[in-house]
Amino acid sequence: MKKILIVGSANVDLSIHVKQIPAVGETVLGKSMERLPGGKGANQACAVGKLGGIGCFLCAVGSDDAGLLIQKSLKEAGMDPAHMKICEKESTGMAVVCVSDRGENNIIVVSGANARCDVDYLKAQRALFHDCDLLLLQMEIPLESVVYAAKKAKSLGKTVILNPAPVPENFPEELFQYADYLTPNEVELFKLANMKAGSSMEEVLQAGKRLLRKGANRLLVTLGGKGALYLGKNEERLFAPPEVPVIDTTAAGDTFNAAFAVKLAEGWNVGKAVDYANCASSVTVSRKGAQASIPTAYQVQEFLFNRKIELSPISLS
Ligand code: RIB
Repeated sequence: MKKILIVGSANVDLSIHVKQIPAVGETVLGKSMERLPGGKGANQACAVGKLGGIGCFLCAVGSDDAGLLIQKSLKEAGMDPAHMKICEKESTGMAVVCVSDRGENNIIVVSGANARCDVDYLKAQRALFHDCDLLLLQMEIPLESVVYAAKKAKSLGKTVILNPAPVPENFPEELFQYADYLTPNEVELFKLANMKAGSSMEEVLQAGKRLLRKGANRLLVTLGGKGALYLGKNEERLFAPPEVPVIDTTAAGDTFNAAFAVKLAEGWNVGKAVDYANCASSVTVSRKGAQASIPTAYQVQEFLFNRKIELSPISLS
């Protein structure tokens, strides 16, 4: 099994359940609030561990109870937190996650210690870049750290999966060439393509093709209930997801990215890995929370068995 290096954020989520996501200027009453381990990087690291991947996680947290909560969750998921940076001065990153009755969410992240996941820290961990086979990255840490990590891994011949979440205002276009797989959701896709958000498949394809022209190698666009779209230089294919009750979509994208990485690391072909990732994230959306909602490899297997799902044998490059 190949090794996965995950580089990214770690947050504690204040997950607030509301009937409907409030509009601008509106005040609503929340139904409940929980304090849960989250952060796109930590969620993906947890998912890699739960889904049976081998690897390690680089991130920065504070020396506070939130940092301990994240370390505990990672350990329970089978991900070694030994290389995490513990900062004395900054608090662990925080996210306010608003989840509606329909399972939709919006998220505000206050970076805190994530800002200390800097290039010097990553340079000090260079052995891990040499040792891994795949790099899994998102964008809740400093931009220069994302560029450094992607460029370094690419120069060492590793497979780079970049989940451009959230898309910064000044997205560096050089990142397109470093990412073997770029995995935006619909909102991120249109933002990267500088297009007004659309909803039709034609608009999604148009935006995706624009990114390919800008230098992206392959895209995997996560489309929520519509599934995931693979877009390569000469191939495109939509993978429909299984239907599930949607409780909370938090960490659905994180599960998708991690599951895809784990299956590539196991040597699966791209089509089958995307299909598996779709199923894993379907399980995630049917449960509450971020890391708590991510299934284990056994639970995904059980889901596939119960639903009699045969994964697509399609071989994509
Ligand atoms: O992808 C979901 C995650 O985004 C949440 O856990 C939150 O912390 C933000 O990073």
